[in-house]
Amino acid sequence: IDPSLDIVAEIQRLKKEKNAVILAHYYQDAEIQDIADYIGDSLGLSQQAAKTDADVIVFAGVHFMAETAKILSPKKKVLLPDLKAGCSLSDSCPPHLFAKFKEQYPDHLVITYVNCTAELKALSDIVCTSSNAVQIVESLPKDQKIIFGPDRNLGDYVRKKTGRDLVLWNGACMVHEIFSQDKIADLRKQFPEAKFIAHPECEEHILATADYIGSTSGMLKYTIENPAQQFIVATESGILHQMQKASPNKLFIPAPPNNVCACNDCPHMKLNTLEKLYNCLYYGLPEVDLDPAVIERARLPIERMLEISE
Ligand code: 13P
Ligand code: SF4
Repeated sequence: IDPSLDIVAEIQRLKKEKNAVILAHYYQDAEIQDIADYIGDSLGLSQQAAKTDADVIVFAGVHFMAETAKILSPKKKVLLPDLKAGCSLSDSCPPHLFAKFKEQYPDHLVITYVNCTAELKALSDIVCTSSNAVQIVESLPKDQKIIFGPDRNLGDYVRKKTGRDLVLWNGACMVHEIFSQDKIADLRKQFPEAKFIAHPECEEHILATADYIGSTSGMLKYTIENPAQQFIVATESGILHQMQKASPNKLFIPAPPNNVCACNDCPHMKLNTLEKLYNCLYYGLPEVDLDPAVIERARLPIERMLEISE
């Protein structure tokens, strides 16, 4: 890319020229969030993808999110700035192994967390996100047997909240499993007024001490509405940009990880850059493509989720 190019202005121009919309997840770099038409959590992003009238969706997020957009809007061109932007949680549940797992529980309904491949969604009855998982489980009859995957931490959280006995797949997110209980406790002593907020992908012992547990959108809303002036935040660090923008005078502290060499960045989310976003708009590549048969089978469980979440 020509270093004299004003990338932000060029992205805006290309967006108009190609009737494209940029959907960005809260875990993207601040400069990508600032250029997006919509920033949101997984549920908000899929609702936007389902209703947009743009011809092109540029998904500033990871592969499973762009796939979900393609499933909901199969006639549209869906671009992902870096096709290698995957997800450790999605990788922790290979569809062929899950299919075998599911065979052991023939009378169970399958709820899958949206952080999984399109093939896995095609094996599911209902999809959910972290903002509606409890609501979706509660919408089912009390005696309904349920398999929940791939995130065991979210599954365990839903199990506790609903009192339902879910059969869990043993998957997890690499970013949400790094937090140190001891270091968080030390930080809370240092900032006794601070609220500790956590994403339900975090481990049980971390969630046990949280003042609030919710999706990225839920956490953001909590920091806006709660009168506290300090927050310790246990999720990917990208969300701090919107928290700080919404409440410039409040203090947001990323929850400390166990390992001093670790950080709260998702290496998959952070593969996307402004330069790659510009290139993908300019060239119309790389595009997310899916087998029409998979789209057909994966659409119903996602649409069920959207109906329940309306
Ligand atoms: P939400 O934004 O839906 O809370 O999801 C978090 C996440 O880990 C996405 O990869
Ligand atoms: Fe996947 Fe975790 Fe990254 Fe979200 S933060 S994309 S769940 S690895």
